[in-house]
Amino acid sequence: MTDTVTVRVPAKVNVQLAVGGLRPDGFHGLANVFLAVGLHDEVTASPADVLRIGATGPDAHQVPLDDTNLAARAARALAAHHGLDAPAVHLGLRKDIPVAGGMAGGSADAAGALVACDALWGTRTPRGELLALCAELGSDVPFSLLGGAALGRGRGELLTPLAVGGTFHWVFAVADGGLSTPEVYRECDRLREASGTGATVAAVPEPEPSPALLDALRDGDAAALAASLAGPDGASSNDLQPAALSLRPALADTLKAGTSAGALAGLVSGSGPTCAFLTESAESAASVAESLLASGTCRTARPTTAPAPGATLLS
Ligand code: C5P
Repeated sequence: MTDTVTVRVPAKVNVQLAVGGLRPDGFHGLANVFLAVGLHDEVTASPADVLRIGATGPDAHQVPLDDTNLAARAARALAAHHGLDAPAVHLGLRKDIPVAGGMAGGSADAAGALVACDALWGTRTPRGELLALCAELGSDVPFSLLGGAALGRGRGELLTPLAVGGTFHWVFAVADGGLSTPEVYRECDRLREASGTGATVAAVPEPEPSPALLDALRDGDAAALAASLAGPDGASSNDLQPAALSLRPALADTLKAGTSAGALAGLVSGSGPTCAFLTESAESAASVAESLLASGTCRTARPTTAPAPGATLLS
C-alpha cells in the first residue's frame, strides 16, 4: 500500500453554457461545452486515523474543511462504494483554482480525491464506476475527471468527449469573493420570468450545442471560437452571463477591460465571477493579463492554455 498519493486536477471554462428550463428536480437541462484549462489544484491523500481535510493557497480560508467539502464527500462515496469503513484519510488540497469562481474548483477537488483515494486504498475502481460516482457528487465532477474538452448534456454530467485541433490561449480575471452557483441559476430563472418568457422546461427551448463553436474547437481556430463566444450588444455563449452580471454588475467593467486590452472575446466563466478572455497568442495573453491587472477591475489575472488533461496521478 502506498503512503501518499498526489493527483493534479484542472479548472474548466464553459465555452458554451446553453441553459434549458428549470426541471422538476431543481436542475436545468444543459448543452454544456466544457474546456479544461491549465489552472490546477493538487489533492494529496495520505493515511490518517479519521477523515481530515486541509487546504493551502491564496483562497484556502474560503474552503470549508468539514463534511460539506466535496473532496470529503468523494472519499466517503468511494469508501461506501467498496464497502469500506469510514474513510481514514488525510486530504490535502493545494488550491490554485479560484474558490467559488465558476471554474469548477470544488468539482476538481472531488475528482482528485476520488482518484487519489482509489490509488491509496488500492481499490482499482473501473473508470465507468468512477465516472458514475463523480456524477452523484455534482454535475461538473465527471468532466474534472475526464479533462480535455467535452459536451455535457443532462444536467452537465452526460459527457461526450470533443476533439480540439490546437492550443487556445486564455486569460482568467479572478474577482474578489465568489458567487453561489445555485443563486446564479435562480437569478437566471428570475430574469427569464421577468422578461415574460418563463423559466420552466415547457417555456425554454431545449438547449443545443452550437455547430459553429464545435467546428472552431475542432479546427483549433481562435478567431472562429471568439466569434461564437461573444457577439454584439453583450451576447454571450454563456446563458448564465446575464444572471452573473445582474448579481455582480462590476463584471461588465472587467469584460470591457479585457476586450479593450486586445482579447478576441470575453465571457463570464460558468456561474462566475471569474471572467475568461480568449486571446490570439501567448504574447497577447501576457499583455491582456497585464492590462487587466492595471485596470483594477479584478484581483488577479492568470494567462494559461487549453485544453488540459483531466485528473492525473503525479505520484
Ligand atoms: O450539481 P451541482 O451540485 O454542481 O449543482 C449545484 C446547484 O447548481 C444545483 O443545486 C442547482 O441549483 C444548480 N444547477 C442547476 N442545473 C444544472 C447544474 C446545477 O440548476 N444543470
